[in-house]
Amino acid sequence: MSSAYEIIDHKYDAVVVGAGGAGLRATFGMAIAGLKTACITKVFPTRSHTVAAQGGISAALGNMAEDHWEWHMYDTVKGADWLGDQDAIEYMCREAVPAIVELEHYGVPFSRTEEGKIYQRPFGGHMRNFGEAPVQRACAAADRTGHAILHTLYQQSLRHNAEFFVEYIALDMIMGEDGTCEGVVAWNMDDGTIHVFRGNMVVMATGGSGRSYFSCTSAHTCTGDGNAMVARAGLPLQDQEFIQFHPTGIYGSGCLVTEGARGEGGYLSNSEGERFMERYAPTAKDLASRDVVSRSMTVEIREGRGIGANGDHIHLHLEHLGAETLGERLPGITESARIFAGVDCTKEPIPVLPTVHYNMGGIPTNFRTEALRPTKENPDAVVPGLMAIGECASASVHGANRLGTNSLLDLVVFGRAAAIRARELINPGDTLRPFRKGSTDQALERFDRIRHAKGGTKTSEVRLEMQRTMQSNAAVFRTSEVLTEGCEKIDAVWKQMDDVSVTDKSLIWNSDLVETLELENLMISAKTTLYSAEARHESRGAHSHEDYSDRDDKEWMKHTLAWIDEKGKVDLDYRPVHEYTLTDEVEYIEPRARVY
Ligand code: FUM
Repeated sequence: MSSAYEIIDHKYDAVVVGAGGAGLRATFGMAIAGLKTACITKVFPTRSHTVAAQGGISAALGNMAEDHWEWHMYDTVKGADWLGDQDAIEYMCREAVPAIVELEHYGVPFSRTEEGKIYQRPFGGHMRNFGEAPVQRACAAADRTGHAILHTLYQQSLRHNAEFFVEYIALDMIMGEDGTCEGVVAWNMDDGTIHVFRGNMVVMATGGSGRSYFSCTSAHTCTGDGNAMVARAGLPLQDQEFIQFHPTGIYGSGCLVTEGARGEGGYLSNSEGERFMERYAPTAKDLASRDVVSRSMTVEIREGRGIGANGDHIHLHLEHLGAETLGERLPGITESARIFAGVDCTKEPIPVLPTVHYNMGGIPTNFRTEALRPTKENPDAVVPGLMAIGECASASVHGANRLGTNSLLDLVVFGRAAAIRARELINPGDTLRPFRKGSTDQALERFDRIRHAKGGTKTSEVRLEMQRTMQSNAAVFRTSEVLTEGCEKIDAVWKQMDDVSVTDKSLIWNSDLVETLELENLMISAKTTLYSAEARHESRGAHSHEDYSDRDDKEWMKHTLAWIDEKGKVDLDYRPVHEYTLTDEVEYIEPRARVY
């Protein structure tokens, strides 16, 4: 293709796509290791979605009471409903303690105890002594922990001279004929130029795809860009059916109310004023794992005990905590309740509803963050030159359901792991593969096709159809009928993409084009989610299938792999869950009933 675009070529040792917590931690880790590192990001780094994380970051520091990383590991395995890879979970929980100390040294302004230690609060599914009773493990900076961490990591990145390409949209990866990832093609929205970033290591750190749903806690930028680039390169996505609903999105807006609110003593009630979680989770109550609480709320609403004229939400009570505690520990929530629900939470309850919050699935990786291209012979085969970290990746530490505060932990532990592994695999200044003529054609042809799309349907119309389908057909509870219908509906939405129109042809600050590129990415997440969910005939973690209401360890102790071709055809296969730990210091935790 003779390109109509001015192409600017860049050569780096490593190229990180995304500047949230994971991307920044990897970027400056690689810079410190001497690797010439570029970080490409579609938003200014401190506007990345990590900034919205509220309640905390988990680590068994034991600042408030006895705690151990082995207890944290047990809770994570149980929270994941045994779909997590226990070698990766051991790595994350073990590394959590030094990771938090490191963050503190980098300058994260954690809240403090009277003695000056990092303050830790209770969170859903965090228990002492292998499930006995709640423990305080979530290290918090009030209810703005993500904000505090993201700003600190960005400052560290600047300090270590990482190079940023801000407001560049990564379009696609460049893959060598032997399947090695060689770089990415990106569009600079500010001046309309097209860039090729070549590197010996590409790291996807692009976050989740919550925006495939109508109501979610995710930023509008969470459009599954990295996952879609990987899928377009012919690689599979893993466990896409596992979508986490956070119990407390503000009714109507979906804005997050941290689980830390219940950690500080908040509780849920139904229209009869009953603290119903006591029935569903007698030990952990309101601090049961998220999937359990979201299902319990949904059952209450379905059985006619919801709040309001339509009986369609639940109350979260914080009034009894008092203005002083709310001001000190939950200032952001107090403000959000006022702005998004019109509620003074020091005096009245907040109306809440389970809301899409997190993708447990994503680009399959090992615990070293190398992306996988599983085959029958080798389910753990890696893709040379490609890593994935953070919410876009599936290591798989979250399995079928993530524990609250393990997301921020995942970012820093695996961001750091990526830097360590990259330095083991490549050296500063290693020769790059020679630029191959035509290697960017596919990416640019796709970009051009979308830019000149001349159909009769607005991007926003197709997006709404996709979001409505996901909201109604891949929800907290699922049935075969609803999922099959969802697959048919999403196929129809995929076809509508052929009729989409991009009216603005400009290459500079063209939001029409940006949104259409993002929609194509979201559609890949949506389709693989529905098809993967339709095929999993069991209930596990966040996948609650009413026709198959039990977990089936005999048949389904396996990760789903979903490939999608350019016509939208989805092919599924499976790879085994790692039923082993990383070291002999802990034993594999055998599956058992999951009660809280
Ligand atoms: O509830 C929260 O603060 C969310 C935390 C998380 O998703 O890890």
